[in-house]
Amino acid sequence: MDMIYKVILKRIDNIFMKIFSFSIINLVTKIKKIFIYTNYDSSEYWKKRAKEPGQAAVLWKNQEYNNLYRKLEFNLLKKFLPKTINEPFYILDIGCGIGIVSKFLVENYPLAYVDAVDFQEMIEIARQKNFHERINYISSEAENYFDECKKYDVVISSACFSAIRNINRLKMAIENCSKMMKKNGIMIMIDPFHKWSYLARAKISSNEIIILLESLGFKLIYKSGVLFWPYREWLANSNYYGKDLERKFFQGEKLLGLLGKHFWADYKVLVFQNLIILHNFANE
Ligand SMILES: C[S@@+](CC[C@H](N)C(=O)[O-])C[C@H]1O[C@@H](n2cnc3c(N)ncnc32)[C@H](O)[C@@H]1O
Repeated sequence: MDMIYKVILKRIDNIFMKIFSFSIINLVTKIKKIFIYTNYDSSEYWKKRAKEPGQAAVLWKNQEYNNLYRKLEFNLLKKFLPKTINEPFYILDIGCGIGIVSKFLVENYPLAYVDAVDFQEMIEIARQKNFHERINYISSEAENYFDECKKYDVVISSACFSAIRNINRLKMAIENCSKMMKKNGIMIMIDPFHKWSYLARAKISSNEIIILLESLGFKLIYKSGVLFWPYREWLANSNYYGKDLERKFFQGEKLLGLLGKHFWADYKVLVFQNLIILHNFANE
């Protein structure tokens, strides 16, 4: 019965799409999302997505939109990664997906060594598509990844922490990462942290994240945001391409700059520095 109902609904939706060029099912889902937060097992969700084509496995359906986002993201990362360094440095890319960020890191920083952690399903694709001798791919849940021998200079969550919808597990993942960092190490989060049901992946605000990190001995050194959320909603899964998409994308980012980069961003940018060992030294 449920199946028949779904087929009929889909047919009606297709007719509606042809007449009005938008999906009534999508519209209803979006209206529902404004008021009701639906939680689900995000691990299973991500494992299933691993085989989607290209960056759709980890971002959105419009691949050109994904590329525009990556340009912003890589510029942000460059801000916080060492510019001149003549000794190896160690990065943890937590929730690395199919390895796009890890590959960017090793290709742009010849002395960077990356440990890249995600579910086995993602890691298999990452190894095929983004292999590199300085990337060590590790199949593990973020919340269970802890190795006391590791000491990272940089930890990056490119939309990983916010993807862990179970708040206790999310916190465990952050705590584990924080314990594997060198003194003065930098933790970079580019994550959609939201409390509002419509935008929330994990239902947690950036303020709650800041309080958590401060309690772990970290200092917030940078707070910003990317992807003006109404435009992100409009464009990321759209059929806009080329110059038209680019124009709309940057128009959104301009509006974000005008209205308030952190508040209006879908992806919040939070950068922390690990002070805990400095504190210990000071106490000695
Ligand atoms: C939005 S995608 C971003 C992927 C990647 N960081 C990037 O920028 O391309 C979120 C990623 O977090 C991973 N993830 C979600 N929950 C996780 C968990 N509990 N442990 C490890 N990875 C997780 C997903 O598998 C997915 O690859």
